[in-house]
Amino acid sequence: MKSGVLRSSGAGVFADPYADAAAAGARVIAVASGKGGAGKSNLTVNLGLALAAAGRRVIILDADLGLANVEVLLGVTPPASLFDCLYHGRDIREVLVPAPGGVRFISGGSGFLELANLDRRRRERLIASLALLEEEADFLLIDTGAGISKNVLAFLAAAGEVIVVITPEPTSLTDGYSLIKVLARFRSHRRVLLAVNRAAGEKEAVDTFRRVERAVDRFLDIGVDYLGAVYEDRAVTRAVRAQVPFLLAEPRSQPAKSVTAMAGRLLTGGREEAARRSGIKGFFHRLVRVFE
Ligand SMILES: Nc1ncnc2c1ncn2[C@@H]1O[C@H](COP(=O)(O)OP(=O)(O)O)[C@@H](O)[C@H]1O
Ligand SMILES: [Mg+2]
Repeated sequence: MKSGVLRSSGAGVFADPYADAAAAGARVIAVASGKGGAGKSNLTVNLGLALAAAGRRVIILDADLGLANVEVLLGVTPPASLFDCLYHGRDIREVLVPAPGGVRFISGGSGFLELANLDRRRRERLIASLALLEEEADFLLIDTGAGISKNVLAFLAAAGEVIVVITPEPTSLTDGYSLIKVLARFRSHRRVLLAVNRAAGEKEAVDTFRRVERAVDRFLDIGVDYLGAVYEDRAVTRAVRAQVPFLLAEPRSQPAKSVTAMAGRLLTGGREEAARRSGIKGFFHRLVRVFE
């Protein structure tokens, strides 16, 4: 496990210099999984739509550098990406793409790969530009790539809150646990949220959560909270094929109801963790410092 590439010392890498201003800022939530195909992109998109349906302003950021899944799931084609903000002087608000269901979407493109190469001036400009989003959103949801690469970990450690998606498959459980273990080492979060995907039903979902929770409680200095479960359901695959998110295409399906319940839980719970590290500007500040 190569977590050493990311500085995790208490040197304040993740300290938030905007903590006071951030209290009223957007909640920045990164969605992660140890293993690919766990359901991150579907959860990010549909959770965003559920929060939007609850009247919140939602921006979805695709930070999966390998696979730009969000645009495929939403059925939209972004005319520009974060890369264009960095190198072609585009305002961040120009790369915000309106998507069905009232959410807006930003394609990271290869922009995030460039963070490491930016000079200080460009970085500062990027942060200032991204801070403009603060007034545009209540939630910034980030779809990340799978695994524990430096890039992914940087997003997770910098995010205000983290959702880890696991499935009942043994390999997904162990990879999910490994991811939480690395996060625990950064001491960036006191708690993470766990979402179970593709369980056969409630019993398997809760069992899956409990197994991870037991191991985490026993061995790691971090807490896990149950966000909810999306069962194995054809509504998900149908939605992926039709390029219309299941929350919009089949609002009465189990996945749609479950994701709506998760949105409700986010809105009523997790206040403490949220208040401690909210704000888009603080998030990007922490993110960029990792690459310095
Ligand atoms: N609850 C589910 N029921 C059935 N199929 C699912 C479910 N969740 C995900 N899938 C399938 O798994 C694929 C990968 O999901 P995706 O959200 O793209 O995962 P990730 O972003 O973690 O790689 C989907 O395209 C879909 O075919
Ligand atoms: Mg994905």
